[in-house]
Amino acid sequence: MTTQQDRVFSGVQPSGNLTLGNYLGAIRNWVGLQKQYESIFCVVDMHAITVWQDPEELRRATREVAAGMLAAGIDPAESIIFNQSQVSGHAELAWIFNCVARLGWLNRMTQFKEKAGKNRERASAGLYVYPNLMAADILLYKATHVPVGEDQKQHLELTRDIAQKFNNDYGVDFFPEVEPLILGEATRVMSLRDGSKKMSKSDPSDMARINLTDDRETIAKKIRKARTDSDPLPSEPAGLENRPEARNLVTIYAALSDRCVADVLKDYGGQGFATFKSDLAALSVEVLGPITEEMKRLCEEKSYVDSILRDGAEKAATLAEPILENIKQIVGFLKP
Ligand code: AMP
Ligand code: TRP
Repeated sequence: MTTQQDRVFSGVQPSGNLTLGNYLGAIRNWVGLQKQYESIFCVVDMHAITVWQDPEELRRATREVAAGMLAAGIDPAESIIFNQSQVSGHAELAWIFNCVARLGWLNRMTQFKEKAGKNRERASAGLYVYPNLMAADILLYKATHVPVGEDQKQHLELTRDIAQKFNNDYGVDFFPEVEPLILGEATRVMSLRDGSKKMSKSDPSDMARINLTDDRETIAKKIRKARTDSDPLPSEPAGLENRPEARNLVTIYAALSDRCVADVLKDYGGQGFATFKSDLAALSVEVLGPITEEMKRLCEEKSYVDSILRDGAEKAATLAEPILENIKQIVGFLKP
C-alpha cells in the first residue's frame, strides 16, 4: 500500500482528426474514470510539434480535440482539461528527464522508429525525446493511473523506468509507480482498409478511419466499404485468427455495444458480412452521431472552449507547482 493519492492523467495529440481509435482506445474510458479518480486530461500540443504542424491548423486542432473530449462526456466540473503548453512545468520537468533517461532506452522505442521511418537523420530531436516529455506530463502531477490504447504501453514502461531511476539516483521515494490502464474490448482499433495497420489520424486514406468529425452518412459509408474477406463470420473468437479485418470489425461492434467479441459472434456466426456491416453501420451512427454533432457545435464556440482550457490550465498549474518545487529541491537547483 502506498500513501500516494490515486490520480489519473492522460493525453491526446492535436495533430489531425480524432478517430474512432482515440475514442474507443482512450477517451471513452476516461469518461468512466473521471467519476472514480481525480482526473487530468491534456491536449498535448507540445507533443504534436515533434512533427511539423502548421500554426493555424495546430490552434484549430487543439480546440477541436478539446471539443471532442467535452462532447464525449469529459466534464470540466469534474476533471481538469487543458492544453499542455499553457503549463510550463511540463517543459521544465521534461528537461530534467532528458538528463535521467538513457539513450539506450530511447533507442528501443518502436513509435520513434515508426514515425521517423527510414530517414532518421532528418527526424526532429523532439521526436526522439518525446517519451521523456510524456513521462513529465504524468509525473508532474504524480499521477498513478494512465488510461491509454495498447500502442502507448512501451512509453509507460519508460515512464516507470525514469521514475525509478530518478528515485534511485537521488535516494528518494518521490515518484509513484505509474499503472497503465488499457481498458475495453478495442485497445487497438485497426485501419478499415488494412487490418494489419493501426487506425491512425495520419493515414493518407481517409477511408481507413472514422473521424469524430465525420457526419452520420460518411460514418455509415466507411463501415459499409470497410475491407473484409469472403468467408462467413465464425461462431467463436478463435475463428478470427488470421482474419485481421473481420476481427477488427467484430471488435469495434463489441466495444460500441458494450459486449464481448464472443457474444457478438453468437449473433452473427455463420453469416456473411452484409447484415453484420449494415448493423455495425447503424450502431456506429447511433453511438457516434450525437458525439460528432455536439463536437461540431462546440467547435463553433471558440471562446467557450478557450475558457475551459484556461481554467483547466490554472488548476493544473496549481497542482504542479509544489511538486515541481520539490523536484527542483531534490535535484539541487537554487531557489530564486
Ligand atoms: P494519439 O492520437 O496518438 O495522441 O493517441 C491518443 C490516445 O488514443 C492514446 O491513448 C492512444 O493509445 C489512443 N489510440 C490512438 N489510436 C488508437 C487506435 N487505433 N486504437 C486504440 N487506441 C488508440
Ligand atoms: N503519447 C500519447 C499518444 O500519442 C499522448 C500522450 C502525451 C499521453 N502525454 C501523455 C498519454 C501522458 C498519456 C499520458 O497517444
